[in-house]
Amino acid sequence: MQVWLERMTIEKNIESKSFPSVEAMLVDYRPEVPVYCLRKKRIQRNARDFVNNFPGKVLYAVKCNPHPWVLDACHVGGISDFDVASLEEVKLIRERYNNSTPYFQHPVKSRSAIRNSYRLHGVRHFAVDHLSELSKVVDEVDDTRGVTVYVRLATPPGGASEHFSDKFGASIDEAVSLLNRVRNTGFKCALSFHVGSQCYDPCSYQTALSVVGKTISRARVPITALDVGGGFPASYPNMALPPLADFMKAIVEGVAAIGLGHEITLLCEPGRALVADGVSVVTKVYLRKGERLYINDGIFGSFAESSSNQFQLPARLVRLDGPIGNGLKPFTVFGPTCDSNDQLPQPVCLPEDICEGDWIEFSLLGAYSNALNTNFNGFRGCMFVDIDDT
Ligand SMILES: Cc1ncc(COP(=O)(O)O)c(C=O)c1O
Repeated sequence: MQVWLERMTIEKNIESKSFPSVEAMLVDYRPEVPVYCLRKKRIQRNARDFVNNFPGKVLYAVKCNPHPWVLDACHVGGISDFDVASLEEVKLIRERYNNSTPYFQHPVKSRSAIRNSYRLHGVRHFAVDHLSELSKVVDEVDDTRGVTVYVRLATPPGGASEHFSDKFGASIDEAVSLLNRVRNTGFKCALSFHVGSQCYDPCSYQTALSVVGKTISRARVPITALDVGGGFPASYPNMALPPLADFMKAIVEGVAAIGLGHEITLLCEPGRALVADGVSVVTKVYLRKGERLYINDGIFGSFAESSSNQFQLPARLVRLDGPIGNGLKPFTVFGPTCDSNDQLPQPVCLPEDICEGDWIEFSLLGAYSNALNTNFNGFRGCMFVDIDDT
């Protein structure tokens, strides 16, 4: 709780009120700062669907959106286990939920984060992808027998908007020796991978699972758990995607193909797929110069990740005073800072008569948006509201 109270002092104007629509919220607040419009019920439903369809345990990847309402919505939707990447995230989860299990799945941790998460917060699941990281875990835990160590495998590139395995992940050779060291040290052995974020090809999971199969048959150590990571996609308009069911099917078939059965716990760590469509951001137009619009949010705020990945976001104009003209045209949209890079990557189609004081609602901004918001040029201010329009 403490962690979030601290953040709330930065993100002023946090609201707990619920509104039936974005328009109703705008009538009440006429906000000058960007407004994160959370749909708690949508996130609850996404979580519930995921839990019902994934053939194992679903951990929510806290980094994706650590807002307490988002965590609570996932929790209400049936998720009580969380993928965490830092001691702060461990504390956040531990302080918020009694019955939760944090899994420290970041393969690079400080010694103090390992020590304190183990000793003070009871963390018993750690990922590693290198012998030096394993040595740190060995040094910092008292009893290796109660701890599961996940050896994170690198996966082949392709099939996802963001590839992670240039930064993290052991090769099969490295994983085989790591697993043997894990077992000899007394830990329970497990494997994990992440196919990359916004994965658009279900075959990526099958390819990664065949790497798992090769590793297991060469390592010859008993594996207690397999974590297939995150990467499940959101439906951005400029990306054609197979349905989520195809990803689940690929995983079920991929696990069966390498001969793993009920003796192992299967886990996954979705972030984006649970929350992307659960949040929109309402921004205000500060200035129009011909076909250029200057708004109060940009790439140093809510649009950092969507811009760097070129994700297209649905956008609609909201005007409280007066009708909106019929014609649409593309506008270049700039963020509020003095930095010339602060520009959305694609033109945004909006009504021709858009003007200063109008609001624009951008949808599909639940993932890696508020989590990456900076205070650059002093533009961190924002509000969170619940919109119950689903
Ligand atoms: C270890 C780990 N797990 C899960 C996730 C969540 O990924 P996604 O939002 O693509 O589902 C990430 C994202 O960075 C990650 O690094």
